[in-house]
Amino acid sequence: MDGRPEPDVTSSGGTLPGNLAHGSPPAPPGTSRDAAVIAHRGASGHAPEHTWPAYELAMEMGADFLEPDLQMTRDGHLIAFHDPTLDRTARGRTGLRTGPVNERTLEELRECDVGSWFNEAHPDRARPEFEGLGVVTLDELFARWGSAVRWYPEVKNPEANRGMEEGLLELIRRRGLQAAAVEEEWILIQSFSPASLLKIREMDPELPLIQLLGASALEGRRVEDLLKEIGDYARGVGPHRQLVDRRFMAAARQAGLLVHPWTVNDGEEMEGLLALGVHGIFTDFPDRLVELMGR
Ligand code: G3P
Ligand code: CA
Repeated sequence: MDGRPEPDVTSSGGTLPGNLAHGSPPAPPGTSRDAAVIAHRGASGHAPEHTWPAYELAMEMGADFLEPDLQMTRDGHLIAFHDPTLDRTARGRTGLRTGPVNERTLEELRECDVGSWFNEAHPDRARPEFEGLGVVTLDELFARWGSAVRWYPEVKNPEANRGMEEGLLELIRRRGLQAAAVEEEWILIQSFSPASLLKIREMDPELPLIQLLGASALEGRRVEDLLKEIGDYARGVGPHRQLVDRRFMAAARQAGLLVHPWTVNDGEEMEGLLALGVHGIFTDFPDRLVELMGR
């Protein structure tokens, strides 16, 4: 134990979760109404990930955090985009819709249609207005909702994109969000890369960091040892949902870490995780989690 109080997102930020409705039905026994609803790539179960409709829906549904995965363009812009390559989610002009994101300028990427793939993949949820949607930059997201919602940016591919961390911190400062990020945990910066998180810590020791853990993170490791190490530099962990059990939660409590599993879309699984005491959940369907918690 490093002496830090047990993590409690409700006591750290004043307004989190902030949208508890009086008179709403009670949450199922054993679950919490206070866990953070983290809109994974926006409300990406309902609309194409990382597009304006996905983020707008997440806001309408009462998400506490918006998650933009970050990739960097050839000319150094941070965009909300999951994959390092365009192939899965970009459509449009041949020659521009495939290959690494970081080999294209923002102007080139603006030509890509990042909505149509969703209609192809999910005919049951397809909408004509998703066709032709464009990429969104982190700066545009901050400009639109900077202090109206919390942020959960993920530094993706930092090994291949030098300067991402500097770019992210510069945007946070320029948009006037640094103080709230530190004082209210308004922004949680996540990455699978410990090196990237440590670099951010070096640049700004006060920003809250979340270490992501893949499904195999505990192979050959004691959870207690791993989380103790992470507790030295991070505010919390974002574990693959299958890693979380009573022992994981006890180790996290001991290390003073928040626990935000990903990516959970099934109601029963959400209930089980809330009963274990997780502090928030990444989901493609923020409406399901909000409803489950009876907000
Ligand atoms: O950031 C939490 C979770 O989103 C990690 O997985 O691949 O969806 O970014 P991924
Ligand atoms: Ca992510």
